Amino acid sequence: MNLVPAGIAGFGSCLPERRLTNFDLEKIVDTTDEWIQQRTGIRERRIAADGEFSSDLATRAARMALEDAGVAPDEIDLVVLATATPDQQFPATAVQVIESLGCTRAGGWDLSAACSGFVFGVQAGAQYVRAGTARAVLVIGVETLSRIMDYTDRTTCILFGDGAGAVVLTPHERSGGFEYLDGFLGSAPDHDAIIRPGGGSRKPASHATVDNGDHFLKMDGRRTFKFAVRTFADLVERSVAEHGGFDQLGVVVPHQMNQRIIEAAAERLGLPIERFFSNVHKYGNTSAASIPIAMREMREDGLFTPLAGKLACMVAFGSGLSFGYFLVRV
Ligand code: UT7
Repeated sequence: MNLVPAGIAGFGSCLPERRLTNFDLEKIVDTTDEWIQQRTGIRERRIAADGEFSSDLATRAARMALEDAGVAPDEIDLVVLATATPDQQFPATAVQVIESLGCTRAGGWDLSAACSGFVFGVQAGAQYVRAGTARAVLVIGVETLSRIMDYTDRTTCILFGDGAGAVVLTPHERSGGFEYLDGFLGSAPDHDAIIRPGGGSRKPASHATVDNGDHFLKMDGRRTFKFAVRTFADLVERSVAEHGGFDQLGVVVPHQMNQRIIEAAAERLGLPIERFFSNVHKYGNTSAASIPIAMREMREDGLFTPLAGKLACMVAFGSGLSFGYFLVRV
Protein backbone atom coordinates (compact mmCIF):
# COMPACT_ATOMS: atom_id res chain seq x y z
CA MET A 1 0.00 0.00 0.00
CA ASN A 2 1.33 3.44 -0.90
CA LEU A 3 1.18 5.68 2.13
CA VAL A 4 0.47 9.41 1.79
CA PRO A 5 2.98 11.45 3.84
CA ALA A 6 1.02 13.39 6.50
CA GLY A 7 1.74 16.74 8.11
CA ILE A 8 0.39 19.32 10.52
CA ALA A 9 -1.23 22.18 8.60
CA GLY A 10 -2.45 24.36 11.48
CA PHE A 11 -2.33 24.95 15.23
CA GLY A 12 -4.85 26.45 17.65
CA SER A 13 -5.37 26.91 21.37
CA CYS A 14 -7.82 28.33 23.86
CA LEU A 15 -7.07 29.32 27.44
CA PRO A 16 -9.86 30.45 29.74
CA GLU A 17 -9.46 34.01 30.97
CA ARG A 18 -9.62 33.40 34.72
CA ARG A 19 -6.21 33.00 36.38
CA LEU A 20 -5.75 31.05 39.61
CA THR A 21 -2.40 32.11 41.06
CA ASN A 22 -0.32 30.42 43.74
CA PHE A 23 -1.25 33.31 46.00
CA ASP A 24 -4.95 32.54 45.43
CA LEU A 25 -4.25 28.92 46.40
CA GLU A 26 -2.49 30.04 49.59
CA LYS A 27 -5.91 31.26 50.73
CA ILE A 28 -7.62 27.94 49.95
CA VAL A 29 -5.18 25.21 51.12
CA ASP A 30 -2.13 24.94 53.35
CA THR A 31 0.53 25.82 50.77
CA THR A 32 2.82 28.66 49.68
CA ASP A 33 3.82 30.26 46.40
CA GLU A 34 7.42 29.40 47.26
CA TRP A 35 6.69 25.65 47.75
CA ILE A 36 4.71 25.41 44.53
CA GLN A 37 7.32 27.25 42.47
CA GLN A 38 10.23 25.28 43.90
CA ARG A 39 8.59 21.86 43.50
CA THR A 40 6.81 22.41 40.19
CA GLY A 41 7.78 25.70 38.51
CA ILE A 42 4.08 26.62 38.31
CA ARG A 43 3.00 30.21 39.07
CA GLU A 44 -0.58 30.21 37.88
CA ARG A 45 -3.12 28.19 35.93
CA ARG A 46 -6.32 28.99 34.01
CA ILE A 47 -9.80 28.01 35.19
CA ALA A 48 -12.90 27.70 32.99
CA ALA A 49 -15.76 30.07 33.78
CA ASP A 50 -19.06 28.76 35.12
CA GLY A 51 -21.02 27.61 32.10
CA GLU A 52 -17.86 27.12 30.01
CA PHE A 53 -17.44 23.45 29.08
CA SER A 54 -14.74 21.31 27.49
CA SER A 55 -16.64 21.47 24.19
CA ASP A 56 -16.51 25.30 24.27
CA LEU A 57 -12.74 25.43 24.77
CA ALA A 58 -12.23 22.66 22.20
CA THR A 59 -14.38 24.45 19.60
CA ARG A 60 -12.42 27.71 19.98
CA ALA A 61 -9.04 25.96 19.74
CA ALA A 62 -10.20 23.95 16.72
CA ARG A 63 -11.53 27.05 14.94
CA MET A 64 -8.16 28.73 15.36
CA ALA A 65 -6.36 25.64 14.03
CA LEU A 66 -8.66 25.50 10.97
CA GLU A 67 -8.01 29.18 10.21
CA ASP A 68 -4.27 28.66 10.63
CA ALA A 69 -4.42 25.69 8.25
CA GLY A 70 -6.68 27.37 5.69
CA VAL A 71 -8.99 24.35 5.94
CA ALA A 72 -12.77 24.81 5.93
CA PRO A 73 -14.90 22.97 8.55
CA ASP A 74 -16.67 20.97 5.85
CA GLU A 75 -13.33 19.62 4.60
CA ILE A 76 -12.78 17.77 7.89
CA ASP A 77 -13.37 14.00 7.68
CA LEU A 78 -12.56 13.06 11.28
CA VAL A 79 -12.42 14.70 14.71
CA VAL A 80 -10.42 12.96 17.45
CA LEU A 81 -10.89 14.63 20.83
CA ALA A 82 -8.58 13.57 23.65
CA THR A 83 -9.83 14.36 27.15
CA ALA A 84 -10.28 13.06 30.68
CA THR A 85 -12.98 15.66 31.29
CA PRO A 86 -15.61 15.34 28.53
CA ASP A 87 -18.85 17.33 28.75
CA GLN A 88 -20.50 14.07 29.86
CA GLN A 89 -19.81 10.31 29.68
CA PHE A 90 -21.63 10.16 26.35
CA PRO A 91 -22.37 11.26 23.72
CA ALA A 92 -18.79 12.05 22.77
CA THR A 93 -17.73 15.68 23.17
CA ALA A 94 -16.21 15.34 19.68
CA VAL A 95 -19.74 15.23 18.26
CA GLN A 96 -20.65 18.49 20.04
CA VAL A 97 -17.56 20.11 18.52
CA ILE A 98 -18.44 18.77 15.07
CA GLU A 99 -21.83 20.45 15.38
CA SER A 100 -20.48 23.75 16.76
CA LEU A 101 -17.88 24.02 13.98
CA GLY A 102 -20.17 22.91 11.17
CA CYS A 103 -18.01 19.94 10.14
CA THR A 104 -20.85 18.58 8.04
CA ARG A 105 -18.91 15.62 6.60
CA ALA A 106 -17.08 14.52 9.75
CA GLY A 107 -17.46 11.72 12.25
CA GLY A 108 -15.54 11.65 15.49
CA TRP A 109 -14.89 10.15 18.87
CA ASP A 110 -13.41 10.93 22.29
CA LEU A 111 -10.12 9.33 23.20
CA SER A 112 -9.41 8.44 26.83
CA ALA A 113 -5.69 8.27 27.60
CA ALA A 114 -5.41 11.16 30.07
CA CYS A 115 -2.17 13.14 29.62
CA SER A 116 -1.03 10.92 26.73
CA GLY A 117 -4.30 11.44 24.87
CA PHE A 118 -3.19 14.10 22.40
CA VAL A 119 -0.06 12.20 21.39
CA PHE A 120 -2.14 9.05 20.85
CA GLY A 121 -4.75 11.07 18.94
CA VAL A 122 -2.21 12.52 16.51
CA GLN A 123 -0.92 9.02 15.81
CA ALA A 124 -4.45 7.79 15.10
CA GLY A 125 -5.31 10.79 12.91
CA ALA A 126 -2.05 10.55 10.98
CA GLN A 127 -2.80 6.93 10.07
CA TYR A 128 -6.11 7.99 8.47
CA VAL A 129 -4.31 10.60 6.38
CA ARG A 130 -1.47 8.24 5.47
CA ALA A 131 -3.89 5.52 4.39
CA GLY A 132 -5.75 8.03 2.21
CA THR A 133 -8.96 7.46 4.20
CA ALA A 134 -9.13 11.08 5.37
CA ARG A 135 -7.98 14.28 3.72
CA ALA A 136 -8.20 16.46 6.82
CA VAL A 137 -8.34 15.43 10.48
CA LEU A 138 -8.79 17.60 13.55
CA VAL A 139 -7.03 16.37 16.67
CA ILE A 140 -7.95 18.19 19.86
CA GLY A 141 -6.68 17.94 23.43
CA VAL A 142 -8.95 19.60 25.97
CA GLU A 143 -9.44 19.61 29.73
CA THR A 144 -11.57 21.29 32.34
CA LEU A 145 -9.72 19.60 35.20
CA SER A 146 -10.93 22.22 37.67
CA ARG A 147 -14.28 20.37 37.55
CA ILE A 148 -12.76 17.20 39.05
CA MET A 149 -10.28 18.87 41.40
CA ASP A 150 -10.51 18.51 45.17
CA TYR A 151 -9.66 22.04 46.33
CA THR A 152 -9.02 20.71 49.85
CA ASP A 153 -6.21 18.41 48.60
CA ARG A 154 -3.00 20.45 48.36
CA THR A 155 -1.11 17.62 46.69
CA THR A 156 -3.22 17.80 43.51
CA CYS A 157 -5.09 21.11 43.28
CA ILE A 158 -1.91 23.16 42.89
CA LEU A 159 -0.89 21.28 39.75
CA PHE A 160 -3.74 21.27 37.28
CA GLY A 161 -5.39 23.80 34.98
CA ASP A 162 -7.92 24.10 32.14
CA GLY A 163 -7.38 24.70 28.42
CA ALA A 164 -7.52 23.31 24.91
CA GLY A 165 -5.24 22.91 21.91
CA ALA A 166 -5.80 21.54 18.43
CA VAL A 167 -4.02 20.66 15.21
CA VAL A 168 -5.22 19.97 11.68
CA LEU A 169 -3.59 17.01 9.92
CA THR A 170 -3.54 16.88 6.12
CA PRO A 171 -1.36 15.27 3.44
CA HIS A 172 2.12 16.76 3.79
CA GLU A 173 1.98 18.37 0.34
CA ARG A 174 -0.85 20.53 1.68
CA SER A 175 0.59 21.13 5.17
CA GLY A 176 3.75 22.67 3.76
CA GLY A 177 5.81 21.70 6.80
CA PHE A 178 5.68 19.70 10.02
CA GLU A 179 5.88 16.34 8.30
CA TYR A 180 4.68 13.51 10.55
CA LEU A 181 7.51 10.98 10.72
CA ASP A 182 6.83 8.51 13.45
CA GLY A 183 4.91 7.70 16.61
CA PHE A 184 4.93 5.34 19.54
CA LEU A 185 2.49 4.44 22.31
CA GLY A 186 2.81 2.25 25.35
CA SER A 187 1.43 1.35 28.76
CA ALA A 188 2.88 0.33 32.10
CA PRO A 189 -0.27 -0.64 34.01
CA ASP A 190 -0.45 1.05 37.43
CA HIS A 191 -4.11 1.89 37.80
CA ASP A 192 -4.07 3.79 41.09
CA ALA A 193 -1.16 6.14 40.40
CA ILE A 194 -3.52 8.75 38.88
CA ILE A 195 -7.20 7.92 38.88
CA ARG A 196 -10.69 9.36 39.08
CA PRO A 197 -12.33 6.28 40.60
CA GLY A 198 -16.02 7.27 40.69
CA GLY A 199 -18.65 7.33 37.98
CA GLY A 200 -17.69 4.29 35.88
CA SER A 201 -18.92 0.67 35.96
CA ARG A 202 -16.58 -0.19 38.84
CA LYS A 203 -17.91 2.52 41.13
CA PRO A 204 -21.14 3.92 39.68
CA ALA A 205 -22.20 7.29 41.08
CA SER A 206 -23.98 6.99 44.43
CA HIS A 207 -24.29 9.03 47.60
CA ALA A 208 -21.43 6.94 48.99
CA THR A 209 -19.07 7.70 46.06
CA VAL A 210 -19.85 11.40 46.33
CA ASP A 211 -19.34 11.42 50.13
CA ASN A 212 -16.07 9.56 49.64
CA GLY A 213 -14.77 12.09 47.08
CA ASP A 214 -14.48 9.37 44.42
CA HIS A 215 -15.34 11.78 41.63
CA PHE A 216 -12.20 13.81 42.26
CA LEU A 217 -8.79 13.15 40.72
CA LYS A 218 -6.48 11.20 43.06
CA MET A 219 -2.77 10.87 42.57
CA ASP A 220 0.38 9.44 44.06
CA GLY A 221 2.69 12.31 43.11
CA ARG A 222 6.02 10.68 43.88
CA ARG A 223 5.21 7.48 42.00
CA THR A 224 4.11 9.48 38.96
CA PHE A 225 7.16 11.73 39.16
CA LYS A 226 9.64 8.83 39.10
CA PHE A 227 7.83 7.14 36.24
CA ALA A 228 7.76 10.36 34.22
CA VAL A 229 11.47 11.11 34.54
CA ARG A 230 12.45 7.55 33.60
CA THR A 231 10.06 7.29 30.66
CA PHE A 232 10.60 10.80 29.30
CA ALA A 233 14.32 10.31 28.64
CA ASP A 234 13.85 6.82 27.14
CA LEU A 235 11.15 8.07 24.77
CA VAL A 236 13.15 11.02 23.47
CA GLU A 237 16.15 8.79 22.85
CA ARG A 238 14.02 6.21 21.05
CA SER A 239 12.22 8.82 18.93
CA VAL A 240 15.33 10.20 17.25
CA ALA A 241 17.29 6.94 17.00
CA GLU A 242 16.23 6.17 13.44
CA HIS A 243 16.06 9.78 12.28
CA GLY A 244 19.60 11.05 12.65
CA GLY A 245 19.96 11.10 16.45
CA PHE A 246 20.31 14.05 18.80
CA ASP A 247 22.18 16.17 16.22
CA GLN A 248 18.95 16.41 14.24
CA LEU A 249 16.78 17.18 17.28
CA GLY A 250 15.61 20.80 17.23
CA VAL A 251 13.17 20.78 20.13
CA VAL A 252 11.37 18.54 22.59
CA VAL A 253 7.83 19.66 23.38
CA PRO A 254 6.95 17.59 26.43
CA HIS A 255 3.68 17.18 28.27
CA GLN A 256 3.78 20.10 30.71
CA MET A 257 3.71 18.36 34.07
CA ASN A 258 6.36 19.85 36.28
CA GLN A 259 9.47 21.91 35.45
CA ARG A 260 11.59 19.61 37.64
CA ILE A 261 10.59 16.62 35.51
CA ILE A 262 11.66 18.46 32.34
CA GLU A 263 14.98 19.47 33.91
CA ALA A 264 15.65 15.95 35.22
CA ALA A 265 15.01 14.48 31.75
CA ALA A 266 17.29 17.06 30.11
CA GLU A 267 20.05 16.16 32.55
CA ARG A 268 19.60 12.41 31.99
CA LEU A 269 19.80 12.95 28.24
CA GLY A 270 22.77 15.33 28.52
CA LEU A 271 20.91 17.92 26.44
CA PRO A 272 20.76 21.66 27.16
CA ILE A 273 17.49 22.75 28.79
CA GLU A 274 17.02 25.28 25.95
CA ARG A 275 16.05 22.39 23.68
CA PHE A 276 12.96 21.71 25.84
CA PHE A 277 9.94 23.96 25.48
CA SER A 278 8.14 24.83 28.69
CA ASN A 279 5.20 27.05 29.59
CA VAL A 280 4.14 25.12 32.70
CA HIS A 281 4.67 28.26 34.83
CA LYS A 282 1.69 29.93 33.08
CA TYR A 283 -0.82 27.12 32.73
CA GLY A 284 0.13 24.30 35.12
CA ASN A 285 -0.62 20.77 33.96
CA THR A 286 -3.47 20.80 31.43
CA SER A 287 -3.19 17.06 30.71
CA ALA A 288 -4.21 16.21 27.11
CA ALA A 289 -4.22 19.91 26.19
CA SER A 290 -0.69 20.79 27.25
CA ILE A 291 1.25 19.75 24.13
CA PRO A 292 -1.04 21.37 21.51
CA ILE A 293 -1.19 24.56 23.64
CA ALA A 294 2.62 24.56 23.71
CA MET A 295 2.87 23.95 19.95
CA ARG A 296 0.49 26.83 19.19
CA GLU A 297 2.52 29.12 21.43
CA MET A 298 5.75 28.12 19.69
CA ARG A 299 4.13 28.75 16.31
CA GLU A 300 2.81 32.17 17.40
CA ASP A 301 6.17 33.23 18.84
CA GLY A 302 8.05 32.11 15.72
CA LEU A 303 10.06 29.54 17.69
CA PHE A 304 9.70 26.85 15.03
CA THR A 305 11.09 29.11 12.25
CA PRO A 306 14.81 28.71 13.07
CA LEU A 307 14.26 24.94 13.44
CA ALA A 308 13.21 24.32 9.82
CA GLY A 309 14.40 20.89 8.69
CA LYS A 310 15.08 19.75 12.27
CA LEU A 311 13.13 17.22 14.35
CA ALA A 312 10.51 18.13 16.95
CA CYS A 313 9.62 15.41 19.45
CA MET A 314 6.32 15.63 21.33
CA VAL A 315 6.45 13.32 24.34
CA ALA A 316 3.78 12.49 26.93
CA PHE A 317 3.12 10.25 29.94
CA GLY A 318 0.30 10.03 32.43
CA SER A 319 -2.53 8.07 33.98
CA GLY A 320 -2.71 4.41 33.04
CA LEU A 321 0.18 4.60 33.25
CA SER A 322 0.45 5.49 29.59
CA PHE A 323 3.19 7.03 27.49
CA GLY A 324 4.12 7.85 23.92
CA TYR A 325 5.55 10.31 21.44
CA PHE A 326 5.17 11.59 17.93
CA LEU A 327 7.94 13.02 15.84
CA VAL A 328 7.74 15.63 13.08
CA ARG A 329 10.23 17.32 10.78
CA VAL A 330 9.73 21.07 11.14
O1 UT7 B 1 0.16 14.50 34.20
C1 UT7 B 1 0.46 13.61 35.23
C2 UT7 B 1 -0.02 14.19 36.54
N1 UT7 B 1 0.88 14.00 37.63
C3 UT7 B 1 1.83 14.88 37.99
O2 UT7 B 1 2.10 15.85 37.35
C4 UT7 B 1 2.53 14.60 39.31
C5 UT7 B 1 4.00 14.45 39.25
N2 UT7 B 1 4.53 14.64 40.61
C6 UT7 B 1 4.89 15.85 41.06
O3 UT7 B 1 4.82 16.82 40.34
C7 UT7 B 1 5.42 15.94 42.47
O4 UT7 B 1 5.54 14.65 43.04
C8 UT7 B 1 4.52 16.83 43.38
C9 UT7 B 1 4.65 18.28 42.96
C10 UT7 B 1 3.08 16.38 43.32
C11 UT7 B 1 5.01 16.73 44.82
O5 UT7 B 1 6.36 17.13 44.92
P1 UT7 B 1 7.37 16.22 45.73
O6 UT7 B 1 8.68 16.90 45.69
O7 UT7 B 1 7.32 14.82 45.15
O8 UT7 B 1 6.78 16.27 47.19
P2 UT7 B 1 6.34 15.08 48.13
O9 UT7 B 1 5.08 14.45 47.64
O10 UT7 B 1 7.53 14.21 48.37
O11 UT7 B 1 5.98 15.88 49.46
C12 UT7 B 1 6.99 16.58 50.21
C13 UT7 B 1 6.30 17.32 51.36
C14 UT7 B 1 5.32 16.45 52.14
O12 UT7 B 1 5.41 16.81 53.50
P3 UT7 B 1 6.28 15.90 54.54
O13 UT7 B 1 5.66 14.53 54.46
O14 UT7 B 1 7.68 15.95 54.02
O15 UT7 B 1 6.07 16.61 55.81
C15 UT7 B 1 3.97 16.89 51.62
O16 UT7 B 1 2.94 16.73 52.56
O17 UT7 B 1 5.55 18.42 50.86
C16 UT7 B 1 4.22 18.38 51.38
N3 UT7 B 1 3.30 18.95 50.40
C17 UT7 B 1 3.06 20.28 50.31
N4 UT7 B 1 3.50 21.32 51.02
C18 UT7 B 1 3.07 22.54 50.66
C19 UT7 B 1 2.62 18.31 49.40
N5 UT7 B 1 1.91 19.21 48.70
C20 UT7 B 1 2.17 20.43 49.23
C21 UT7 B 1 1.75 21.74 48.91
N6 UT7 B 1 2.22 22.77 49.66
N7 UT7 B 1 0.91 22.00 47.90
